[in-house]
Amino acid sequence: MTIWYGGDYNPEQWPKEVWHDDVRLMNRGGITLATVGVFSWAHLEPREGEYHFGWLDEVLDLLHANGVRVDLATATASPPPWLAMRHPETLPVTAEGVRLSVGSRQQYCPSSPVYREKARELVRRIVERYADHPALELWHVNNEYGCHVSHCYCDVSAAAFRDWLRAKYGDVDELNRAWGTAFWSQRYDSFDEITPPRAAPTFRNPTQLLDFDRFSSSELLACYRAEVAVIRERSSVPVTTNFMGFFKPVDYWAWAKEVDIVTDDTYPDPADPISPAYAAMVRDLMRSLGGGAPWMLMEQATSAVNWRQQNAAKSPGQMRAWSYQCVARGADGILFFQWRQSAAGSEKFHSGLVPHSGTDTRVWREVEQLGQELKALSDRVGEAAIEGSRVPSSVAITLDWDSWWALEQPASPTDVSYVQTLFAWHHALTSLGLAVDFVRADGDLSGYRVVVAPAHFVATDGQLDNLASFAESGGALVVGFASGITDEHLHIRLGGYLGERLRRTLGVWIEEFAPPAAPDLAARGSGIAPPVQLSGDVFGGSAEARVWSEVVRVEDAETLALFTGGALDGWPAVTRRAADAGTAWYVATLPEHGALRRLCESILSEAGVEMPGDGSLGEHVELVRRGALLFAINHGPDSTQLQFDGSDILSGEPARGLELPSQGVAIIEA
Ligand code: GAL
Repeated sequence: MTIWYGGDYNPEQWPKEVWHDDVRLMNRGGITLATVGVFSWAHLEPREGEYHFGWLDEVLDLLHANGVRVDLATATASPPPWLAMRHPETLPVTAEGVRLSVGSRQQYCPSSPVYREKARELVRRIVERYADHPALELWHVNNEYGCHVSHCYCDVSAAAFRDWLRAKYGDVDELNRAWGTAFWSQRYDSFDEITPPRAAPTFRNPTQLLDFDRFSSSELLACYRAEVAVIRERSSVPVTTNFMGFFKPVDYWAWAKEVDIVTDDTYPDPADPISPAYAAMVRDLMRSLGGGAPWMLMEQATSAVNWRQQNAAKSPGQMRAWSYQCVARGADGILFFQWRQSAAGSEKFHSGLVPHSGTDTRVWREVEQLGQELKALSDRVGEAAIEGSRVPSSVAITLDWDSWWALEQPASPTDVSYVQTLFAWHHALTSLGLAVDFVRADGDLSGYRVVVAPAHFVATDGQLDNLASFAESGGALVVGFASGITDEHLHIRLGGYLGERLRRTLGVWIEEFAPPAAPDLAARGSGIAPPVQLSGDVFGGSAEARVWSEVVRVEDAETLALFTGGALDGWPAVTRRAADAGTAWYVATLPEHGALRRLCESILSEAGVEMPGDGSLGEHVELVRRGALLFAINHGPDSTQLQFDGSDILSGEPARGLELPSQGVAIIEA
């Protein structure tokens, strides 16, 4: 067994002589899997209906002859220019009415029947030709669905949106009720009057926006399904499409059920010290989307990307450390974009496994080293210990795309970032040495001791009931601010925010939002101090928060922390209630990291959750248990000494007293 190692391979960018050098170097670098054909449509079908597969035959045969397996793309992510020339209506249109052009990539309207048919035909040809190719390991459908164009506002999309709404609501009065069109004279007399939420004089209808987000995600999923259906007529080889971490336009819960393995593309900024913590959250999401099954990192950079304003190179060892972070958090594959750094085109300054300067380079040496290590690791620990092994977690955070979409709409009560709120909780929990799962609020929560529901803004009755039942049946439920505000149509739950069901379980209700002044107000000299002050033993004394605060009315709960000073002086900030067999916490603000971490410690220790990170290694050392192995990764600038039983299987040294340098990794087997 191997942990897959490789990346996007784009041989069409290079003359044939280079291909032989490619496979030679792939063998040297320990490459086991190459993703081929992602952007090859124009090469495979240079004119409509005229297919050229000879070059791809050669490439696959060459890879096979050299023992490299293939993740074969369906090549539908970027249509060739002829599609737009012959069928201009396949080009997507923005909310402002601008039709996007050819000359870049991914210029298609997801609802276009013409695009879908041409894509299906290409897939049919590819599958007919390569379904039985001995190099084939995995089908790679399209690429990063929704990247660049996630919403299309053209007339074809408008018609598809109306069909989707007809199927959802049945009659237009139902839609009028759901969308609250009594407001601002928005009433529709028939479905034919409805358009996508195109540019408008001011705020667009919130439920229309939310439905359009739902529709757009499901149109992309329909594109994916259409291609998979063609593959499945002829091939039973596993199928995937690459996700993009916390990607707002696409509800991955719906997608995850339809891939055979979850795969992800993530490019954390090497210059940002918070990147490893944020990346840890992305890895945990990928594991969770697959229900705990192993996933694969489909793309990362060996060093710099080319699309930030300032593109920092990875520091020595950083690529290796971040790769092990993925393995620790459940990945069975480490792949990159792309194999050979391009000599031309928009991504020529994006790093590759083989850099512009060749193999006498730091990047290539690190590529080779990691390849050797991953092979040795796979051989050494075998299937039982790591391949397919699970990452245990008794703590979960709810993730809900409806809440994300709605909370961040214009005219919502706050400019709070949904994902940054999730991240604050995740970061606090992982800094205690935990792997944290993500769950749906209506999913099976029975395997967890603690479930945190931050900013669960849009909540169905079923979700609220599921969360409350979790607490009542013995779990520790932690509800964060801005939760239970609306139902699934964005209608307010009247009579005190949180809704009846949570109000009973938590023993509190929310009278009013009272967010702190925006930092720019203070900066403008208005004299309003932005941070909110907090006090309570759960924070170890006093703490600050900057993001949010609310007026909490306690009916039947203990108050564990208070807001102090300012308008909320003396009002509850954190409450707890014994809810039958379990506990229900409410947190009406977002304390800064240290305080949130202390609050998490209180919650976890009360719930009996063990925390392997006692803090003695400092904030920068990431500890994760996967199967029988404990991974220790030092993301900080200074070296540190490990004090664990067992030995490090990478160095063969005892783990007690082992010096872990900056970017160092130890994999400890007790
Ligand atoms: C991804 C994409 C790749 C490449 C990479 C660069 O979005 O799938 O083709 O563009 O980003 O970082």
